[in-house]
Amino acid sequence: MSLRSNVLDLRKRKKEVQKGGGDKAIEKQAAMGKLTARERILALLDKNSFHEYDLFVEHAAKDFGMEGKTLHGDGVIIGTGTIYNKPVCIFAQDFTVAGGSLGLMHARKITKIMDHALKMRVPLIGINDSGGARIQEGVNSLAGYGEIFFRNTLASGVIPQISVILGPCAGGAVYSPALTDFVFVVENISKMFITGPSVIKSVLGEEISMEELGGAKVHAEITGNAHFYAETELECFEQIKTLISYIPRSNLKKALAHKPKAPLKGKAIDDIVPVDPRIPYDMRELIKSITDGSEFFEVMEGFAPNIIIGFGRMDGETVGFVANQPMVLAGVLDCDSSDKAARFIRYCDAFNIPIVTMEDLPGYLPGVDQEHAGVIRHGAKILYAYSEATVPKITVIVRKAYGGGYIAMNSRHLRADFVFAWPTAEIAVMGPEGAANIVFRKEISEAENPEQMRQLKIQEYKEKFANPYVAAAQGYIDEVIEPGETRSRILHALQVSENKTASMPNKKHGIPPF
Ligand code: HXC
Repeated sequence: MSLRSNVLDLRKRKKEVQKGGGDKAIEKQAAMGKLTARERILALLDKNSFHEYDLFVEHAAKDFGMEGKTLHGDGVIIGTGTIYNKPVCIFAQDFTVAGGSLGLMHARKITKIMDHALKMRVPLIGINDSGGARIQEGVNSLAGYGEIFFRNTLASGVIPQISVILGPCAGGAVYSPALTDFVFVVENISKMFITGPSVIKSVLGEEISMEELGGAKVHAEITGNAHFYAETELECFEQIKTLISYIPRSNLKKALAHKPKAPLKGKAIDDIVPVDPRIPYDMRELIKSITDGSEFFEVMEGFAPNIIIGFGRMDGETVGFVANQPMVLAGVLDCDSSDKAARFIRYCDAFNIPIVTMEDLPGYLPGVDQEHAGVIRHGAKILYAYSEATVPKITVIVRKAYGGGYIAMNSRHLRADFVFAWPTAEIAVMGPEGAANIVFRKEISEAENPEQMRQLKIQEYKEKFANPYVAAAQGYIDEVIEPGETRSRILHALQVSENKTASMPNKKHGIPPF
């Protein structure tokens, strides 16, 4: 045999395996509105950058008619490539091969690329499209999942881990995405649940469609399992690329700086925020008025919208924003918003991303529902996350900073590096109305005109406490700034904090509230 014929033979073999489950299965995939695993990888990565490994791996199952059966690549494609020239490791389950089900060799391929990603300190992207544990392979499939979960945990906080749900992801399989940093879902394509509609019907008698149970919207808006929602696969890939552009490739690096840009000329910052603390406004507008190019890449937009988290750039450097959203529930902290913010703070801290906190909230949400849902332990997470974070931490108090909310939103007491307040800031134990009713209850009830007395006392309380100057007099805030100075103050604070050193006491690990 000549070298040429060897090469031709290689090409033929490759072509055969690259067909995955064959034309019929590929047609079925397309009919479901889905790209194939290979098409997905090629659409996501830089052109011609993908290098595939373990193409010729075959399954090792012998039972239930599996012996002698061919499953090309054992239903998963693994490899390396680049996104915006930055290296990534990737796997994509191939639903056209045995429904992308996970057997021993399939899992070995995934864990191989995971090990590679961790060793090389590059981000890992996993595209999930699978019927779950390969039923014919029994405990070997379960072992495979266990090996994946273990590696997800090892890699947590070391390399970014991104999960993309582009088909079914059912049963225990959901726990790999749940252990990763960012989960992407797509309308009508993603389906994630522990037990499907038929099991639910037989066990509980409840009827629900797959979409209503674990579709993309459900996870982006209700469960909080997904961080990004897209209407199409291609839109989803654009979102992944944008995310990659904001984050560092590992915890040993900083995110790559971009060319600095000024914010776009829009509404003046003073006009975005109404002086009357009862009138809401869109906090996103405020964030965009200070970021480079007025760009803001929001994370978990649909879940717990009373808090906003996401990435922006300031002078070219990535910054993580955590901000109350006065447009939703006045921006209160509750169980879900605390969970959402806390995890993001920990992500930024693990990956060397400075955190800017924009504050305007009346405190934690009161009510029986919240108390019984565990607002104590959920709310504690945000305190824990801010206290633990050692990256540069900057706070801007825009209007309200009441009670536990004042402490929780990266106060000086949790070791904020810089705390700025606008002159409209109100920093107090609670809002003037509530405070007056409690403190002056006797005077109000005994007054000739109780309502007049109440208003008088509210005013008195406001003048005394509902301003930034009492906190400024204690040094709890560093500077009362004009709204127009917000960007320049943050930029300077970031510059000064560039070589910040701070550490936590030596410990194996903390025990965050759950
Ligand atoms: C083996 C599987 C499979 C599985 C699908 N296939 N899931 N093979 N093990 N888990 C095969 C099918 O037999 C079929 O093979 C091909 O994949 C395509 O599947 P279809 O059913 O034709 O596709 P579709 O109609 O689109 O339905 C997709 C599906 C359904 C909803 C995912 O296949 C399904 O319900 N599968 C079983 C899901 C499940 O119960 N998995 C176990 C979960 S428990 P042919 O040869 O006909 O093309 C679990 C435990 C993990 O995962 C625990 C970890 C801790």
